[in-house]
Amino acid sequence: MISTKEAITLENKYGAHNYHPLPVVLARGEGVYVWDPEGNRYFDFLSAYSAVNQGHCHPHIIKALKDQAETLTLTSRAFYNNVLGEFEKHLAETFGFDKVLPMNTGAEAVETAIKVCRKWAYEKKGVHENEAKIVVCNNNFHGRTTTIISFSNDSDASKNFGPYTPGFIKVEYNNLDELELALQDESVAGFLVEPIQGEAGVMVPDQDYLRKAAELCKKYNVLFIADEIQTGIARTGSLLAVCGNCTCEAACERQPNTYVRPDILVLGKALSGGVYPVSAVLTDDDIMDVIKPGQHGSTYGGNPLGTKVAIAAMEVVHDEKLAQNARYLGEIFREEMEQLKSECSLVNVVRGKGLLNAVEINDSTDSSTAWDLCMKLKENGLLAKPTHGNIIRFAPPLVMTEKQLRECVAIIRKTFLEYEQSGE
Ligand SMILES: Cc1ncc(COP(=O)(O)O)c(C=O)c1O
Repeated sequence: MISTKEAITLENKYGAHNYHPLPVVLARGEGVYVWDPEGNRYFDFLSAYSAVNQGHCHPHIIKALKDQAETLTLTSRAFYNNVLGEFEKHLAETFGFDKVLPMNTGAEAVETAIKVCRKWAYEKKGVHENEAKIVVCNNNFHGRTTTIISFSNDSDASKNFGPYTPGFIKVEYNNLDELELALQDESVAGFLVEPIQGEAGVMVPDQDYLRKAAELCKKYNVLFIADEIQTGIARTGSLLAVCGNCTCEAACERQPNTYVRPDILVLGKALSGGVYPVSAVLTDDDIMDVIKPGQHGSTYGGNPLGTKVAIAAMEVVHDEKLAQNARYLGEIFREEMEQLKSECSLVNVVRGKGLLNAVEINDSTDSSTAWDLCMKLKENGLLAKPTHGNIIRFAPPLVMTEKQLRECVAIIRKTFLEYEQSGE
């Protein structure tokens, strides 16, 4: 097998340098573990940015992949296929929406939501042609297409990729006054929001923010669009972070004040358990019916292989009670990190929900401390990655056991305390 050194050399020589990976090569994965070519084992604490919620190579999902791969993989939507309807019914019933529009990557699903929302604005709300606006939040992350980066305020993501797509208004996240002011513009069609801002550093809004934002959207006849690509599929301790009109057994009943039902729900990543790219936009008939044949699509979107994989991935979430596990382990994790904070000056803030958590390091945003800590964590057998300089995101697969989590907490503790003592 190719060595770590050789694999890194090849990627560096032949691949575009559009990422800055931690210098570890992953050659195999199972559950919460990954191995490098030399056989060293690591706990995965990133889960491919929350795509591998069901754990690496989950046997139920891999079986669905293998069976369907030997049967039928791609038909295009020029014809019906015998799996897509089953997938759409499964998602529609699970999340409580009339209709599903399947795509592949998260960014494509966000683009789809934007297109549906704009078309609804012209055809249902009566916005003048080419004047529809969508309100978004500062520090958002919704993907990498030219339209999506047009409303990013991360200069790395947007600089020198212009000209930018017009029609977006930015407001501060978690600020209802600013949102209401923006919604008063009659050409506003939608409000696109992450229920927790993942890439921005796991920013958790006030408990009533999403519910009140949804109420404001209703008041001004604006579509509330929840991008749950990172937060959805049990990651935050309920099936969705905005757990609305869904049939899950998770946090909904426990926090009635947080009930929010988006007008448009955007899913991706863990929808297919990290096995095959599947994303989807869900909404009701009176919104989805603005899309007619020929107006939107994707060759691979809704293919039988991806949709079979996604059905199996959703079965795992349900059967293994991953939302409940994420909620339970998340509480332990934050408690332990708070304890570490009281002993270690490197920890500044601990925040998160379910198993989407972050530790903000007590250093400037341009310091290398978070990166250095991630390097030490790697040496100690745990893989995590900084986001935005001094923040480390901790998001393991949701199939983790309490024993494994406590082992991971011990690794994090040891690494932080040793790093502090070393005075690096
Ligand atoms: C909230 C959110 N939306 C959209 C995306 C884009 O998804 P993809 O990378 O599959 O295009 C991401 C990816 O990190 C995300 O976190």
